[in-house]
Formats: sequence, C-alpha cells, structure tokens
Amino acid sequence: MNILLTGGAGYIGSHTAVELLAKGHSVVIADNLSNSHPAVIDRIETITGKRPLFFEADIADKKQTEAIFSACAEHQPIDAVIHFAGYKAVGESVAKPEIYYRNNIDSTLTLLETMQTFGVNKLIFSSSATVYGTEAEAPYTEQSPTGNCSNPYGWTKFMIEKILGGVALAHPEMSVVLLRYFNPVGAHESGLIGEDPDGIPNNLFPYISQVAIGRREKLSVFGNDYPTPDGTGVRDYIHVTDLAKGHVCALDYACLHTGVEVFNLGSGKGSSVLDIVRAYESASGRKIPYVIAPRRAGDLAVSYADPSKAKRLLGWQTEKSLSDMCKDSWKWQSQNPNGYRSSDE
Ligand code: NAD
Ligand code: UFG
Repeated sequence: MNILLTGGAGYIGSHTAVELLAKGHSVVIADNLSNSHPAVIDRIETITGKRPLFFEADIADKKQTEAIFSACAEHQPIDAVIHFAGYKAVGESVAKPEIYYRNNIDSTLTLLETMQTFGVNKLIFSSSATVYGTEAEAPYTEQSPTGNCSNPYGWTKFMIEKILGGVALAHPEMSVVLLRYFNPVGAHESGLIGEDPDGIPNNLFPYISQVAIGRREKLSVFGNDYPTPDGTGVRDYIHVTDLAKGHVCALDYACLHTGVEVFNLGSGKGSSVLDIVRAYESASGRKIPYVIAPRRAGDLAVSYADPSKAKRLLGWQTEKSLSDMCKDSWKWQSQNPNGYRSSDE
C-alpha cells in the first residue's frame, strides 16, 4: 500500500517509515519541518535502501495538502494516512495555547476534508496517554475515563479523538484507529535516526542522554516524594521501534475493519526516574549526576498502560527491554552529538 505519513520526518514518524518500508509498503512523507530536519529522509533511505517520497508542506494548508494527494493520485494513489503532524511540547502548549489548538486541530480537519475529496478512508492517529487526565488510575485500559487534561496539548488530543469518532460514525466506510502512546524513547538500532529536540529537552530520556554526552551538567529529578517505591515518578517507557511496529499492525487492522477503535501502545510496565538513571548509566558506561528538584507542575505520580487490547486485537506487544531503550538512545546520542545538525550548522 501507499501510506502518507503527515509529520513523518519527526521522531516517531521516521521510525514508522522504516518499519513500513521494511514490510514492502510505499511511504510518502509530508512535513513542514517545524520540528524536524530534512536529513532524516536520507537516513531512512540508508537504513532501508528505499527513499520515501518527501513533500515539505503544511498539512493545515488545504492547497498544499490537496496538491500532495493530487500528485500521488497520478502515479500511486494514497491508500491510508498515519497522522503524526502536530505540536507536542506540553509546557509550550500552556504558554501558547492558541497555536497548539490552531495547528493540531486545523491540520486534522484539513487532512480529513482532503481524504474525503480523494476517497481515502483509512486513518491512524497519534493520540497520547495524556488523554487519561487526572481522574483515571494506572494501569489505564481504553475504557478508563478520559478528559480532565492538565494542559492544552492534552486537550487537543482529547478533542481530535472526539472529532475522529464523530467523523467515523458519519462515514461508515471509514476506518479510524486511535493510538494512545505511552512514553516513546530510544532510537533505531542503527543509531541513524532518533529524537532530536530543539534547545533544552523537556523529556527525561533526551535530557539524560545530553547529560551522558556532557552537553548538560546534571539531571533534575522532579520530586522524590511521590507515593511510588522510590518516591520518583513512574512511567511506561516504550522503545520507539516497538511503537513504530504497532502502527504497521494498526494499519493491517484498519484494512479489515471499519469504524473507530482505540488502542493503548505501552509495555504495561512502570519504571521510576531513578530506575532510568541506573539503566542509562549501565548502558552508556557514563555517570549521570542528578539533584532532587521540586515536583513539576502537572506531573502524575504513576502512569502505565494495560496493553492487553492491542495484544488481543492487533497481535502486537513490546519486545524490547529498558536496557535496549537506553543502549539505542545512547548509540544515537553518541553517534550524533548535535542530532541531525552538523556541528557547524
Ligand atoms: P515530532 O515533533 O518529532 O514530529 C511531529 C512532526 O510534525 C515534526 O516533524 C513537525 O515538523 C511536523 N509538523 C508539525 N506541524 C505540522 C504541520 N502543520 N504540517 C506538517 N508537518 C507538521 O513529534 P513525535 O514525537 O514524532 O510525535 C508524533 C506525534 O505523536 C505527535 O502528534 C505527538 O503529539 C504524538 N505523541 C508523541 C509522544 C512523545 O512523547 N513523543 C507521546 C504521545 C503522542
Ligand atoms: N522528569 C524528571 N526530570 C526531567 C524530565 C522528566 O525528573 O528533566 C521526570 C518527570 O517528572 C516524569 C518522568 O521523568 O516523572 C517522565 O517525564 P517526561 O517529560 O519524559 O514524560 P511525561 O510522562 O511527562 O510526558 C510524556 C510526553 C507527553 C505525553 C506523555 C504520555 O511528554 O507528551 O508522555 O504519552 F503525553
């Protein structure tokens, strides 16, 4: 099949492109490069021996999006879409909510309208465990209560899930799969693609990897007084390659079903911040100095998935260990100390 990946030059999209190409699919990437680097396309080709078709485009722009579907229709029409495009920084979404609502929701609506124009009816959407908000308790099942999100980014995911549910109901020929990711980390085992945050990383793994390489002095552990075994926050970390494979399974599912279905993609295991520090030290052979800092506003004590529905209906489960996540993150970081940018860029 020919699969369009919106936001496919980003962290999760690039790893998914690799897995789709490995399964014999064709891949079209549409990305405005607002949070990614064009070098990723070459890297995908180096890993797979196949080059995705790349369009630098804003998916919230109707003309640009239609032009992509139209160009593809002439040679190899798009069969399904995986919609990764969007802004994702939680803190920034609190400071600039309007640009988060505008970009994340507009890009989805424009994409949906264009899919309808071109008769494309299979859509997989990048949602997030953040939709479980503050009322649900881990382990989260897909039936756990959603809403009560603690930031605008989370609300965009919640709202888009509702929009897509309504659209699938109104158009019975459509197949929509909502994937609620837990904490994606690590990098492709080749060390050629990985997470490349701009500026100071907000998330734990990229922060630790920059401490390990010497770009940052020490990690601040946000709180050690949570009701968890060692007092630090517990999360469900999932290797990005396992997550990418989950999209291939979701695509197979979308080909066999119509309607809307939601799946947790997580490992089902919780690890604390200090568990990650220790695992990273042993994978990298580097010391990770840290200090205990106050809790970060909006953080939950514990979040992990019940991934049994994905196992049952998608035939998917995680395969990689915490040690693999740390090893591959370190390989990416040490081979690319400046991410995709060369040191003089
Ligand atoms: P990313 O920022 O690396 O990738 C997103 C890509 O979308 C970027 O390449 C960016 O340039 C592009 N983009 C943004 N707005 C666009 C637009 N209007 N038109 C075209 N391209 C646009 O992020 P990621 O970590 O790969 O996340 C992918 C998706 O998964 C996002 O929707 C994110 O919210 C969701 N998600 C991520 C995580 C995580 O921890 N990484 C967790 C849960 C959900
Ligand atoms: N943490 C630190 N120090 C840091 C960064 C993080 O102690 O410098 C701690 C956090 O307090 C938390 C854990 O490490 O306990 C994980 O934090 P991350 O920022 O890596 O991840 P979150 O669970 O806060 O959020 C991530 C994404 C969200 C997404 C959510 C669920 O950032 O977009 O996972 O998928 F919604």
